Amino acid sequence: MAAAPTLILGLETSCDETAAAVVRREADGRGAILSNVVLSQVKDHAPYGGVVPEVAARAHIRHLGALARQALDEAGLQAADLSAVAATAGPGLMGGLLVGHTFGKGFALAQNLPFIAVNHLEGHALTPRLLGPCPFPYLLLLISGGHTQFQLVKGVGDYTRLGTTIDDALGEAFDKTAKLLGLGYPGGPQVEALAKSGDNTRFDLPRPLKGRAGCDFSFSGLKTAVREIVQAQDAVTDQVRADICASFERAVSETLADRTRRAMAMFREACPEAATPAFVVAGGVAANARLRATFTEVAAAQGFSLMVPPFHLCTDNAAMIAWAGAERLALGFSDGLDVAARARWPLDTVSPPAVGRGRLGAKA
Ligand code: KG4
Ligand code: ZN
Repeated sequence: MAAAPTLILGLETSCDETAAAVVRREADGRGAILSNVVLSQVKDHAPYGGVVPEVAARAHIRHLGALARQALDEAGLQAADLSAVAATAGPGLMGGLLVGHTFGKGFALAQNLPFIAVNHLEGHALTPRLLGPCPFPYLLLLISGGHTQFQLVKGVGDYTRLGTTIDDALGEAFDKTAKLLGLGYPGGPQVEALAKSGDNTRFDLPRPLKGRAGCDFSFSGLKTAVREIVQAQDAVTDQVRADICASFERAVSETLADRTRRAMAMFREACPEAATPAFVVAGGVAANARLRATFTEVAAAQGFSLMVPPFHLCTDNAAMIAWAGAERLALGFSDGLDVAARARWPLDTVSPPAVGRGRLGAKA
């Protein structure tokens, strides 16, 4: 274990956010964010209705150097003060990963610092420990544009996947629903806003896999059902849109409640000694207030303590990458400069891939 505090520069370029941050980790495990800069490319991709890998990679190249400089400046540090450099090495879009990963290696080499290749999902998974005490084991639900999975987090680098989507990610389902309704990208916030004025009982949407054993997800049927409802309307008025959004949100909320109860039961079986374990929800979809209310209810009923990081730490950022690097460094892990970036990199390297997984997109 490192005896002195460590200072880690983190770099994140796996999708459509270019980000750099510096965190400090005390020898006793406490964390602090000294700087955290994120440049969203949402506007660059909005005209295409989704992330364009080549556009993303070029934007990362353009901005990463300046952002790293800014992160050091805001932390009041020089490169020589750092203990290590951590960069996302996967999973994600290869072009962007190579930009951050190569920059990080070059920086580490020039400053003679250890380099840590971080799994982006581990960044999300360990974020609560940066914010306060969050002992292992705990249950993680990651719901973003690219991922939808339950992980049993047993330790740094020690994960068991309990469930995952067999087709679309949840954020993707929100985005596709928004697109079918002629709303902009990203769709989640717009669906949530419209749902507020809608009737959530007007349309009967499926609750995919509800009641089934295990805690896997499937969202492609929900998207198809929304498409069929839209096509069956004489006119897609504002009220129809709002009612579809509200009905969609309710279907998602009930599905998540069912899957979460099952994931919690699986967690209890695997870790009977954990008295009041944390239930951590991360990823952009965790911003949704209706879903948060559902998680609050389910967690309370099942004896878990709900932990949702603040929105800017739920979505992609580099503080989480720096922190995952800090936790790894504290355990004596670092990587050689020959470590490769990986478009696919499951957190749980033991469980076989889910049967019938359909998504072959950016962050599958
Ligand atoms: O974690 P994130 O920022 O990026 C990755 O995909 O990694 O998540 C983005 C996703 C998008 O699909 C977006 O539509 C969804 O999170 N999202 C929401 C909300 N805010 C963002 N979904 C539902 N309700 C929201 N309020
Ligand atoms: Zn992410």
